[in-house]
Amino acid sequence: MNRLTVHLTDRSYTIVFSHGDLKPFAAYVRRHFHDARIFVVTNTLIERLYKDKISSALAKTGRSLKFISIPDGEKFKSLGSADRVYTRLIQNGANRSSLIVALGGGVIGDLAGFVAATYMRGVALVQMPTTLLAMVDSSIGGKVAINHPLGKNMIGAFYQPRAVFIDTAFLNTLPDREFLCGFAEVIKYGLILDRSFFEWMQTKFDRVQSLNRQAIRRTVERSCALKCRVIEKDEHERSLRMILNFGHTFGHALEGLSEFRLFKHGEAVFLGMVVAAHLSFKLKKISEADCAGIESFIKKFVIRFLTKPMRRFLGDVSESEFYQKLKSDKKVTQNSIRFIILRKIGRAGIQENVSELLVRQSIAYLNQWVNALHR
Ligand SMILES: NC(=O)c1ccc[n+]([C@@H]2O[C@H](COP(=O)([O-])OP(=O)(O)OC[C@H]3O[C@@H](n4cnc5c(N)ncnc54)[C@H](O)[C@@H]3O)[C@@H](O)[C@H]2O)c1
Ligand SMILES: [Zn+2]
Repeated sequence: MNRLTVHLTDRSYTIVFSHGDLKPFAAYVRRHFHDARIFVVTNTLIERLYKDKISSALAKTGRSLKFISIPDGEKFKSLGSADRVYTRLIQNGANRSSLIVALGGGVIGDLAGFVAATYMRGVALVQMPTTLLAMVDSSIGGKVAINHPLGKNMIGAFYQPRAVFIDTAFLNTLPDREFLCGFAEVIKYGLILDRSFFEWMQTKFDRVQSLNRQAIRRTVERSCALKCRVIEKDEHERSLRMILNFGHTFGHALEGLSEFRLFKHGEAVFLGMVVAAHLSFKLKKISEADCAGIESFIKKFVIRFLTKPMRRFLGDVSESEFYQKLKSDKKVTQNSIRFIILRKIGRAGIQENVSELLVRQSIAYLNQWVNALHR
């Protein structure tokens, strides 16, 4: 398989997989965007790495091509950056038949997607993810957003791309820490949707990590296929799509409590999945052996990123602070926290009315678990 269709009636689109080959993208532009101006929204780091490659891939199409770059970093996923991109689009004559290409990780995908959704009430968007996280998660599904100083992703929309081009050769320049972060989402898909994928990863992880081409390809393609299956059934996160938040309720609380300074998103999700798996076990949904298997796989990742300040933070944060933070999450409804738990490995569900005691015990467990890691 080198392509996958996301079936969403009139908003259906194709995800095209390649490795070091941007010809499918050039062919797509030639076929679908006659006389269109193309605007590649990216950051300065990625522009430095990949501008020449993208420009030469598109050179033969004869389309006008312009790069618009913002500085690198989550703090630039802001209204200020969107405003700067709008200005450059207007100055360069972007119109309703123009194409915006989001070239980058989730920050750029979300920001460029938000701009595409709103500029002239919506222009065509193509996602070209360059991080593992963006390849398996943020570039598909149509959630686009910018942050507000009072909260992450507070301003946004559902806006599906016209196509997604995933070229896994971009991963060759991705720093290790970012690569590991993407794995949090990959493992999440296995846990919530596909036991055999989870088991495959447990045995093949070394090959994936060394960027073995087949292993990476299987990892990315299977993850995308699983996410698509969920989005097709519940595009707007009314029910099923919520299971994609497995490990995220706790992870977001960790990110928020540490003021987004200590953990990268994927790192917080790894730790959040430890808590969520433990809670699933405490609720008697998964066996102790399954829970231990999940923890020992996640451990391989956590020991690689866990720093002293992270340990100190996890030791210092109180269960009540943590619990209060969970309750302040924007997804909490009428004071009841919805937890995504595992019913077994490969199947997840939504659980409300979980006793506060059990949640606090699971939070306390994380600290014990982390403390035991280096023994
Ligand atoms: N829309 C969604 O459904 C969705 C889902 C998950 C996450 N997100 C969002 O995604 C963002 C996180 O995305 P991310 O983890 O990709 O982070 P990111 O976009 O900040 O990228 C991580 C770092 O890697 C660099 N980078 C990107 N590609 C590179 C490459 N090929 N080579 C070298 N360096 C490269 C970036 O410049 C950045 O410094 C968050 O803002 C989050 O809210 C959105
Ligand atoms: Zn995530």
